[in-house]
Order: sequence, then structure tokens, then C-alpha cells
Amino acid sequence: MPPPDPSLSPPFAFPPMLPYQTLIALDRHATIPLTQQITAAFIALINQGVLPARAKLPGSRHLAAQLAVSRQTVVVAFEDLVAQGWIEQLPSKAATVGAQPPIPVPEPLLEGPASQLAPRAGFTFAPRPAVGPGVRPTAPSLLLGGGSPDARLVPLEALARNYRAASRRALRQPQLLGYSAPEGVLRLRQQLARYLHDTRGVPAGPDDIFVTRGSTMAIHLLTQLLVQPGEVVAVAARSYGEADAIFRHHGAQLLRVPLDAHGLDTDALAQLCQQQRVRLVYVTPHHHYPTTVALSAARRVHLLQLAAQHDFVVLEDDYDFDYHYDGAPILPLASADRSGRVLYVGSLSKVLAPAYRIGYIVAPSDVLAALAPIRVLLDQLGDPLLELAVAELFADGGMQHHLQRSCKTYHERRDVFCEALHQHLAPWFSFTPPAGGLALWGVFAAGIDLPMLAAACARQGLSIGEGQPYRLPTDQQAHLRLGFAAHTADELRRSVHILEMCLRQLW
Ligand SMILES: Cc1ncc(COP(=O)(O)O)c(C=O)c1O
Repeated sequence: MPPPDPSLSPPFAFPPMLPYQTLIALDRHATIPLTQQITAAFIALINQGVLPARAKLPGSRHLAAQLAVSRQTVVVAFEDLVAQGWIEQLPSKAATVGAQPPIPVPEPLLEGPASQLAPRAGFTFAPRPAVGPGVRPTAPSLLLGGGSPDARLVPLEALARNYRAASRRALRQPQLLGYSAPEGVLRLRQQLARYLHDTRGVPAGPDDIFVTRGSTMAIHLLTQLLVQPGEVVAVAARSYGEADAIFRHHGAQLLRVPLDAHGLDTDALAQLCQQQRVRLVYVTPHHHYPTTVALSAARRVHLLQLAAQHDFVVLEDDYDFDYHYDGAPILPLASADRSGRVLYVGSLSKVLAPAYRIGYIVAPSDVLAALAPIRVLLDQLGDPLLELAVAELFADGGMQHHLQRSCKTYHERRDVFCEALHQHLAPWFSFTPPAGGLALWGVFAAGIDLPMLAAACARQGLSIGEGQPYRLPTDQQAHLRLGFAAHTADELRRSVHILEMCLRQLW
């Protein structure tokens, strides 16, 4: 038989008839109608280039048979695609992919595109002063920052699994992806209530808790609600720089109260209250930030008495309660307060990692109700899927296990770090080992120039910060907060070795 004349071959459909029954997976139990599923599948095939511009689509009868749906379902889906501009259909002709997809598909980029934006704003504005210690992404090999947890210990697999399960749940409950309660999902608030009760005696129910994106947002919301411009906020002489900046940002008058080895000096606060109307006092009683000391029991009682006597709000920032190594911790002020004066703020930034933006406020219900409209204006709501994922980590015991493991690891690291510092830095740096937390606080010998030391360490791949946010005008010697939790014993010893080498070279 002679070979077929190629010029007589029937034209190939372009592309050849695709196996649509495999390419388009329809979920017949989903709440999304089949027509919408078919529309979405064709858009995906066009975007992926499987169906190029002008490609011929199968007839509706044929496709309906392949997908085992009614012909009408395909007709409606195609009408939808025509209306959206993805395909074209002329009377009694096969439908074809449009020449130009309605949404241009971006070119895949290996690197970010070169910026073509104007290098400066075309209008004038006054930038805000730099905020406290700042959170700048740096990539030194060793970073002894202010006290981060070790990201390598985070139960990432469990969190990812839980997030996936929460996303699947959204398939059945699409309202999970809509605007929901600004105070956070109930399941997480229930779990947080149990955790706060069991670990530190805070007697909160789920409705006494407001979930925020980190404690930074919590402090912002509370300040906006409670502090009018010009009102006095009292903080310790050295205090958490971000909180200082938030109070200033809201126009508060920031007054500083002396600080010693027992925490904030409440006698000095009493004197201040005699002279000034104080609206709010910000404290970190568990481990004072940055000096790490615990507020003594006597001063806690005094602080609560002063709050009642002078009618001020106590904002208790309990950022690292979970980490205590030497003996039992003193319970938070919020566990003892029944007068509704203590507002308790916490966060999972030290429990998991700062990237999981979950913080919370425990406060009387009238305060929480007033926070909701402020949060809505700023952020609408948090991240319900993440909140559900984290709630499950609490519910299945994964969080408790993670905390036990982290606490044990950080305890060992504290000991290694303190030992190495004592051994190698004794003439230059003195400190008291912290009873808990993720960082220690120390002071350099007179004459040591901290920025110069920091620059020398940075050249060796070690970042130690420059201690700026906590410097007092009266300081004769440089102080420094050094985080130890994020590094292994070997890394900590290497850091101390670099510090010693630089100190030896310079002094
Ligand atoms: C004193 C203090 N409060 C709160 C936080 C946590 O802030 P956020 O929860 O916004 O990450 C930190 C983190 O470094 C802190 O040091």
C-alpha cells in the first residue's frame, strides 16, 4: 500500500485532544458548583500554557462525556469563560482560547526585577524616629541579639500539618476564609485560657482573651484606647525600646522610674505619683527587660497598692514567662489582680518564633470590647488558619512538649554561655547569671568602647549589637544584653572566643 500523501492528512486539532478527564479533577462533594470547578480548571490550563492562545477546545457534548457531567454544565462553564475573556466562541464553531489572556501571565523571574521606581518620594514628609532596638534582618553567622528562641527547635512539621488541616477545614467551612471575629478564633482563646491558667495561674476564660498579631500590636491597641496625648506613661529607667516608642508614638509623656536589682523601684514610683498624675505604668516583672531581674514579691504588692491608690493602669508585658531555670517563678501580677487594673500582654514570639505573629491581651471585658473596633480599623482580624493550627498544637500536647524541650535546651545553653563568659571574659565583662529567660545582661569594664568592639566582632561574623537603646546619660560603662538561646553550645563557645579575641586585640 503506498504511504499516505502527507498533504492529504486530516489537520491535527491543536493541541491534540487532551485527556480532560485526567487534567480536570472534579470534586463532586465540594460546595463549589461543578460549572465553577470546570471554569477554574480551564483558566489554570491556559495560565500553565497547556492550552496556548487560539487552541481549539473540545465540543461541549464531547467534554461533557469525558467529564461525566451534563452538557448544560459544560455550556454554562464555557459561557462563563467567554464572559471573562478567556475563550472565544463563534456561532456553530468550536470554542478557542483567546489570543490574549485577560490577566497577563508574569514572566517567571530568577531574581527580583530592577527597580524603576523614583528613588525618592515626590512629596515631603517627616519620618518617625527609629524605633527602639529595631528588628532588622541581619545574616551574620552568629547573632547574640536581645534574646530570640532557636528557630531550629520550632515544631515546624506539626505546625505545617495543622495549618494544612485548618485549610482543608476551610473547604467545608468557607466562612473561615472570610472576615471573622477581631478577637481571634475561639478554639485558640480556649487553649490559651487553659495554658495561662495551668502554667501561671492567670484566671482568664476564653472571653477574657483578645488575640493580636504579637504583643507589639497588643501594646499599640491598649495605648491607643487608654492613653490620651500628653498623659504620663511611667517606664523603668531602662525599658523595652519598642514599648517606649509606641507610647511616644501615641503622644504620651514618658517618665522614667529608677531600677535596681529588685526591678522597678516602687518607692520612686510612689514619689512620682505624688507629683504627677500617672495614667499607665509599663512593667516586665518576670524578667525585667533588658536587665533580666525579677520584680520582688514585696514590690509587686506595692505596685498593685499604688495602682489602686493613684488610679493608674498596669500594663504587664510577660514576654518570656515560660523560661525559668532556677526555682519556681513568681506568678504574674495578673494572677493576683481582682481589681481590673492589670492588663496582661503575652506572645508566642519567644515560645515559637517571632514570625508566628500571635500575641494576646487578657483584660476586663469592657476593655476588650472597646479594643475590637480599633483593631478592625488597623487590621480587620488576625490569621484564623494560623490561629487554628496553633490551637491544635496546644490541644494535642505538642506545645507543652516543645516548651519542655526548649526550656531544658535553653537552661543548658545558659550554663554553657555563663561558664564560657566567666572563664574567658572575666576581666572585661561582668554579669549575674539570669534565673531564666533567653538573654543575660552585663556590664563592660571602664574604657571599653562597645561600638568599636561590636564592629570588630562583626568582621569575625559575630553580631552583638551596640547596647544603644538602653544607654543612660549617666552611664560610665557600657551595658549589653546578650541572647544565648538561639545558639548551640558550640556556637556559644565560638562567640565567646571571638569576643575574647577582639577584646585582647583592642584592650
Ligand atoms: C519585652 C518584650 N515584649 C514583647 C516582645 C515580643 O514582641 P512581639 O510579640 O510583637 O513579637 C519582645 C520581643 O523581643 C520583648 O522583648
